[in-house]
Amino acid sequence: MNKHLNLLYYSATDTTAQVVKAVADGMNSSVRENNITLPNERERDFVFGEEDLVIIGVPVYGGRVPAFLAEYFTRVKGNNTAAVFVVVYGNRNYDDALLELKDIFEKKGFIGVAGGAFVGEHSFTNKVGTGKPDQKDLELARRFGAEIKEKLSKINNKDLSNLPELFVKGNYPYKERKPMPAMLPETDELCTNCGLCAEICPVGAIDFNNYSNVDVKCISCCSCIKKCPAGAKSINSDLLKKITQGLIANFSTVKNEPELYI
Ligand SMILES: Cc1cc2nc3c(=O)[nH]c(=O)nc-3n(C[C@H](O)[C@H](O)[C@H](O)COP(=O)(O)O)c2cc1C
Repeated sequence: MNKHLNLLYYSATDTTAQVVKAVADGMNSSVRENNITLPNERERDFVFGEEDLVIIGVPVYGGRVPAFLAEYFTRVKGNNTAAVFVVVYGNRNYDDALLELKDIFEKKGFIGVAGGAFVGEHSFTNKVGTGKPDQKDLELARRFGAEIKEKLSKINNKDLSNLPELFVKGNYPYKERKPMPAMLPETDELCTNCGLCAEICPVGAIDFNNYSNVDVKCISCCSCIKKCPAGAKSINSDLLKKITQGLIANFSTVKNEPELYI
């Protein structure tokens, strides 16, 4: 493949990261990684050109592209740039997120070559999508990467404008974004003040001088909860408990497989 392979992804609890890296692995090319999970990594603009192929990956929040990322993506531009769209969801549904991701990027100079929706362990509970993506999913993601490479190699004169429009599942209007009250993590006595939670918070919501102090800009991504080495963080809101119980009741035994569009 004579395109420069790039990753552009956000991944609070690392499931999206695993999937996009596996897709890139399948292309067997050197890759430039742009991980935009942390706020300082979103301080810059990205401009990609005709010579680039970009694998763009986000988790699904409320059936959509996370709102703060949709806003940030105004700073990413393409110019007839080949793109692969990947969403990772917690085994409930990806609703309109993949379609929205494709629409966002196709409006700004990217041309969709392929898309995929994969299951990741749910941010709110390890009882839904447990252990996902697993080895089988990652192998499928690698094979998907190889197929995309093959597809690109067959395009006449490297002219992407001849590609038929990429179809992915989703509906208009997109699923409504429901306003949610802030559901902030609390810190218990197990905290060792290591500070990891503040360092890894994707929106800079945790106070570096007092790790139990969390700003309402928290997006409840659960990065601090899943990654705290002492298990000292949890969200104790009644609403989140109710949502999580519903997820466990309805989706803990459902086996969703990756859906690929190419
Ligand atoms: C605020 C929030 C909303 C979510 N909404 C959905 C959803 O609508 N459907 C779903 O299946 N999973 C949903 N999830 C679960 C994540 O999409 C899933 O766990 C994903 O693997 C997380 O990706 P990451 O590990 O890259 O952060 C949500 C997670 C969070 C934090």
